[in-house]
Amino acid sequence: MASRYPENILDEILTRINIVEVIQDHIPLKRAGRNFKANCPFHHEKTPSFMVSPDKQIYHCFGCGESGNAFKFLMKYDRLDFPEAVRALAKKAGVVLPEIDAEDKRSGSLNTQLYNLNGLAVEYYSSLLNAKEAKNARQYFVNRGISKDSAFMFKLGYASDSWDGLSLYLRSKGFNLSVIEKAGLVIPRENGGYYDRFRNRVIFPILDNRERVVAFGARVLDNSLPKYINSPETPIYTKGKNLYGLHLSKDSIRENDYAVIVEGYLDFIMPYQHGFNNIVASLGTALTSEQVNLLKRYTHNAVMVFDPDTAGEIATMRSLDVFIESGMSVKIASLPKGYDPDNYVRKEGIEEFRAKIRSAESLFDYKLRMLRSRYGIKDLESKVKIATEMLFSINKVDNAVLRTEYVRQLADRLDFKEEALLSEMRKIKSEKGNSNSSLAVTKVASAGISPTEKLLLKLMLEEEELSRFIRENIEPEHFSSQSAARIISLMFELIDQGRSANVNTLANYLKDDSILEALCESVFLPDISDEEKEKVAQDCITKIKKERTMMKQQELHNKIKLAQSSGDHDKIKLLMQEFHQLIKTK
Ligand code: UTP
Ligand code: MN
Repeated sequence: MASRYPENILDEILTRINIVEVIQDHIPLKRAGRNFKANCPFHHEKTPSFMVSPDKQIYHCFGCGESGNAFKFLMKYDRLDFPEAVRALAKKAGVVLPEIDAEDKRSGSLNTQLYNLNGLAVEYYSSLLNAKEAKNARQYFVNRGISKDSAFMFKLGYASDSWDGLSLYLRSKGFNLSVIEKAGLVIPRENGGYYDRFRNRVIFPILDNRERVVAFGARVLDNSLPKYINSPETPIYTKGKNLYGLHLSKDSIRENDYAVIVEGYLDFIMPYQHGFNNIVASLGTALTSEQVNLLKRYTHNAVMVFDPDTAGEIATMRSLDVFIESGMSVKIASLPKGYDPDNYVRKEGIEEFRAKIRSAESLFDYKLRMLRSRYGIKDLESKVKIATEMLFSINKVDNAVLRTEYVRQLADRLDFKEEALLSEMRKIKSEKGNSNSSLAVTKVASAGISPTEKLLLKLMLEEEELSRFIRENIEPEHFSSQSAARIISLMFELIDQGRSANVNTLANYLKDDSILEALCESVFLPDISDEEKEKVAQDCITKIKKERTMMKQQELHNKIKLAQSSGDHDKIKLLMQEFHQLIKTK
């Protein structure tokens, strides 16, 4: 039903693990009474509305509605499919899964096949790097100061001059060319057939957070162009969603509580090789909010390293606003002309690089300095230009105290009146209108389940005793929302099977997110004291039945009106009978 794995195995896994620990492996949790809370990792927020219940072993976000059990959390957070999440938690729980798991590399979902293909490609390219024909490639790495250990750690490789070396290898492993094309590893020829995408280049595999190979970058060995060829977008690779090297650097980023962001492969590898480990590379594109959010799992502080040639551009500076928008603090380290992190570390040494990082400027200082050198501050007009650009960023700061402080500093540096700047900023605000509320995700009616129904669900989940009482006193069809009826009948089914109807198990069955959301939300409703529970349950049952009758009455009422207007007397009679019946049973 929920997967290929037997239900008792899933239950076994869920009872052995603790969702609090599972989630804590990914984001920090704070105690809040019986529960834990955190800033929701699934939407942007500054006050925690993400709740985790150790009693019920589920989580629920009151902001965006994301909810579920430990499996669901991993599916969402690590983007796993259900069997993958089961495997991950089985490992953690020390539960041995039955053999259905032994999957043939050629079968499985397309994504699994693509990961497998890329994994094989890495093996192929890295073994080629040791071949006789790869002398130039090895020499190239030596020239660039890359150690053997690094080449191993970063899984570097070499693609030879051959048009079909890789595809022959992959086909010998049983993959067909159309899947290999989907992985972006070959390119179709106009008159049929395919050729290898990467030839006579050194290879930099791009791994995701879970150490799966998602794409490749490939560099020429000389000065020819294009310098780098990269994988195209594939089902497992979207540009701007990954950070190169994060799988190796995340622990160090968490420990140091900041991350250095550089642009290129070598800019990452060189500092890393010299022991500067809290670093990631954006791979040449402007930083996206997805990348910033990825980083935000480990730290709220970033230091961008800019080459002097990219710096100073308004577009570049504006791209820094994604940090401010996501509530991260960002500093900028500038290297001297002609340097990037790679050659800076090699020429000046890692300590000099560290010093540059230490002396990074705040975004405020950096931006102001750049704008001043661009426009000058002699005349009023350029000062206004600077102020407008600066206010644009400052306006994005969420913290009002900080915002006012920036405005004060800006007024001071440009010799403007603070009030004038503040009123200019208000203009920017009103231009933006209400779009500022990025929390527009707040959902209200989850799956149309009424508050009474939710309360009853909560009680149903509290104690077996109570759930049996409820089982005997209400039927799924009494519920006015389809979703609640679906949950209740599932619970009844479990009870009838002699299993406990806990939310943790239910979450495996409910594939509809909005139903799951309503269920998980009900868990976090205010607690009801033990003495009152049965009475409240009784009240809920009465009320739900009454609501149902009222709804039916209303429906009948409408039908009768319709029949009246069409003069269908037989029908009216029938409906009236039904109506009286309904009132009697109430
Ligand atoms: P750079 O042009 O700064 O190259 O591009 P680099 O990293 O210093 O390269 P080396 O040191 O000569 O090897 C920065 C990044 O932009 C992407 C790559 O990710 C590169 O590392 N890029 C650059 C491409 O994807 N394609 C290109 O043709 C050039
Ligand atoms: Mn470089």
